[in-house]
Amino acid sequence: MFIAWLLLFKSLIAFILVNASVVGLEWTQYHNLDEIYEWLSELETKFSPLVTVYTIGYSYENRPIKAIKISSQPGNQAIFMESNIHAIEWISSAASTCFVDKLLHSDDKNLQDLLLRYDWFLVPVMNPDGFTYTHEINRWWRKNRKPTGFSNETGPCYGTDLNRNFNYEWKKSGFPISDPCDHWYHGSGPDTEPEVLALQNFINQFEDDYIRLYLAMHAYGNFVLLPYGHTSDIFPPNYDQMMRIAQGFADAAIKSYNTTFQCGASGLLNYSGYVSGDAKDWIYAVKNVPFAATIELRDNGRYGFLLPADQIVEVCTELTDGMVGLIKAAEMERVLTPKV
Ligand SMILES: *[C@@H]1O[C@H](CO)[C@@H](O)[C@H](O)[C@H]1NC(C)=O
Ligand SMILES: *[C@@H]1O[C@H](CO)[C@@H](O)[C@H](O)[C@H]1NC(C)=O
Ligand SMILES: *[C@@H]1O[C@H](CO)[C@@H](O)[C@H](O)[C@H]1NC(C)=O
Ligand SMILES: [Zn+2]
Repeated sequence: MFIAWLLLFKSLIAFILVNASVVGLEWTQYHNLDEIYEWLSELETKFSPLVTVYTIGYSYENRPIKAIKISSQPGNQAIFMESNIHAIEWISSAASTCFVDKLLHSDDKNLQDLLLRYDWFLVPVMNPDGFTYTHEINRWWRKNRKPTGFSNETGPCYGTDLNRNFNYEWKKSGFPISDPCDHWYHGSGPDTEPEVLALQNFINQFEDDYIRLYLAMHAYGNFVLLPYGHTSDIFPPNYDQMMRIAQGFADAAIKSYNTTFQCGASGLLNYSGYVSGDAKDWIYAVKNVPFAATIELRDNGRYGFLLPADQIVEVCTELTDGMVGLIKAAEMERVLTPKV
């Protein structure tokens, strides 16, 4: 009798646990586009009207590019994040979605304040075609999937590096961005790719000064990279201020796992060479957003792009700690002004 009751009780607990885990994403594995989009719509249902999901445009292969907005009160300034513009960098969307989930569910006072005081935007997968391609065909794909119009002896060449296609100092420097068959191809002109235009159109709707921080999530190397990417000679007007804010991220992100983030202009650090036409430089220089950075998450090259899924939760913790530090520093610099 007791045994039977125990078995029933055990299966009841198992049933509850299994069904609890069906709701939402889990950050113990990497998810595909459908799973991430399903999570977005669950959040919208659960947190309406706090959370809104937008389709900001469509990819070349006609997949929606979705954004989530979280706004607790009118009059907030905005913080904008974007991830997986590079298809191969799975940790970027895994960590950014995990961070947003924490923001919505945390009982930590710091995070609750951030949720209340700022409007948050995340485009979890900027490059849905490339991302789907990495899940289904080639894990090493980086670009989008639009044919370049060029071919070599292996056949037609596909894809533009979306983070080289933005119209600021486009094509200025960086090797081998002019090769239409290479991983870093900048496109046939600036702003030629539908994914880039979708992001720009979405951002162009907002009034000036609404978006104050822009974070482009990437991997790997553990860097906070600042404008500009195309040069090591010219620095942005408020470079020193951006450095102090970036250092706020690094000083906080080291706390849990002793992970060191190096901060500096991407042109100066010259991480994988110069970069022209990337999102952060466009946002900073064309849209006048006062702090824009590319955050390169783990690791330092041991696993590189193939970071094991059992590190997602730790990277999410680093990112969350880092964001709290970054926002504190941005408030001290008066780049951000909380409403309450
Ligand atoms: C031809 O293009 C493909 C990508 O489309 C690339 O993998 C290959 O290395 C290129 N071949 C040469 C000789 O450049
Ligand atoms: C933290 O990392 C640094 C090098 O990055 C190392 O010298 C130091 O021993 C590490 N500290 C701990 C507690 O692991
Ligand atoms: C940056 O990297 C590029 C390509 O790797 C190289 O040509 C250039 O000299 C480097 N610049 C500096 C300042 O190290
Ligand atoms: Zn990247």
